[in-house]
Amino acid sequence: MVLERICAKEREANMEKYTCSPEASDDYDSEDTDAVPFSPNCHESLKNMDDAKVEDPSCDPERPVKVSFEEITSAAYKIRSGVMNTPCMRSHLSSLTGMDIYLKKDFLQNTGSFKERGARYAMVMLTQEQKRKGVVAASLGNHAQAVAYHGFLLGIPVTVVMPIIAPIMKVQKCREYNANVIMEGKNMSEAKKLAISLSTKNGWTYINGYDHPQIIAGQGTVGLEILEQVEDVDAVVVPTGGGGLLAGVAVAVKTLNPGIKIIGVESERCASYANAIQNGKPIPTAIEGTLADGLAVPMIGYNAWETSKNLVDKMVTVKEEWIAVAILRLIENEKCVVEGAGACGLAAILAGQLDEFKGKRVVLLLTGGNMDTTILGRCLERGLAADGRLVKCKVTVSDRPGGISELCKLIGSIGVSIKDVIHERAWVASDVFSVEVKVVCETRDYTHSIELRDLLLSRYKKVRFDNIPFQGNITSTTGEEQDEDES
Ligand SMILES: Cc1ncc(COP(=O)(O)O)c(C=O)c1O
Repeated sequence: MVLERICAKEREANMEKYTCSPEASDDYDSEDTDAVPFSPNCHESLKNMDDAKVEDPSCDPERPVKVSFEEITSAAYKIRSGVMNTPCMRSHLSSLTGMDIYLKKDFLQNTGSFKERGARYAMVMLTQEQKRKGVVAASLGNHAQAVAYHGFLLGIPVTVVMPIIAPIMKVQKCREYNANVIMEGKNMSEAKKLAISLSTKNGWTYINGYDHPQIIAGQGTVGLEILEQVEDVDAVVVPTGGGGLLAGVAVAVKTLNPGIKIIGVESERCASYANAIQNGKPIPTAIEGTLADGLAVPMIGYNAWETSKNLVDKMVTVKEEWIAVAILRLIENEKCVVEGAGACGLAAILAGQLDEFKGKRVVLLLTGGNMDTTILGRCLERGLAADGRLVKCKVTVSDRPGGISELCKLIGSIGVSIKDVIHERAWVASDVFSVEVKVVCETRDYTHSIELRDLLLSRYKKVRFDNIPFQGNITSTTGEEQDEDES
């Protein structure tokens, strides 16, 4: 509370100093850019940008920086009053997974992600002149929010460039923290290009969200906290996008205890770290839409790679279905709303990709909790479907009065609830006295779904289930294949 009050005072004083007038905004193209911390519509077209001029000064592929343990401890000291030391608690998921699971709940930070650590550190380390001129960042959301929020508290003008695919909630939050938000670029590479070019043009400091050495050091502080909070850790599992968090945590943890395994996890739809391992260096990677939107970075950072390459024991890529199930488990078992990126560690465990740690103590970093509510709804439905608790079947029944109600009664007789029913007459190939009924049902669990399937098969000749997954192997299921197997 006291901190909040001090911050509010600090913020008010600083915001007065930096809020720009409309006249100042019009000055954007003039040479005197110092006077223009915020300027709406200040972006130039991405197409006109010269690639040679958009290099990130903090990230030189020829001279990558290896972040040291000392830098991380220094970051921990400098951010201690502005960033929360979040709880790391034993999880109810321990019995389910057969591991002694601890959850580091960094989604409880003010802006809902660990990104505040690096953002705060990079911003407090700016010179007075740099603070006065302001900063610019490119981000899909969490880094942008963190920079916007701490810029707001510290009175530093902030511009964030967010690709058009950035989740609306994250964009909205940045605006609430008074950042100048520019939505441009179809992906992170394009947004980054624009942000760097704006920084050169305006004298703003560009803060790379995963590869700036101070960002890596700031993110590493979460590793220090984990080892203070939990004894005898065997492994730490780290969701990985651009690699900054993984690098910082790896240095912190391995320096204090080289025996602890460091495991990185990414979605198979944006496997840029795995690709770097295969190629021996960071390399552009094709990425697709993923539930783990925070990890969708097409190439990991050079500094992150240099810092972490010899410290990571294993890199796992997880399938989307498992991310959905992990989100669901965290809500149901832990009452934690965690976004896809943050749930990847648990996804890897549920998918059986970390079975070597059965019986061991494993810390999962729950890195973020920012998810649009509509996306959350979709994730839960996908999770339920992947889990075999939301099932879809087609049953051909008699079209005589009572035929459909008999089917519904039969389904209800074993405690299965019907979510949706559609019946089809025109395209049914069997006799004209039949109707095909499509039913979406909610069951208690996988076994309950199997009970439903067996019951319907015992009563009707034509029954097709679209999506009862094979238990323990969700990913081998496709609706079509399953149709044949389950009929
Ligand atoms: C929630 C969440 N988890 C993990 C990461 C991965 O961090 P990094 O890009 O440093 O690898 C991100 C990146 O934005 C994130 O938003």
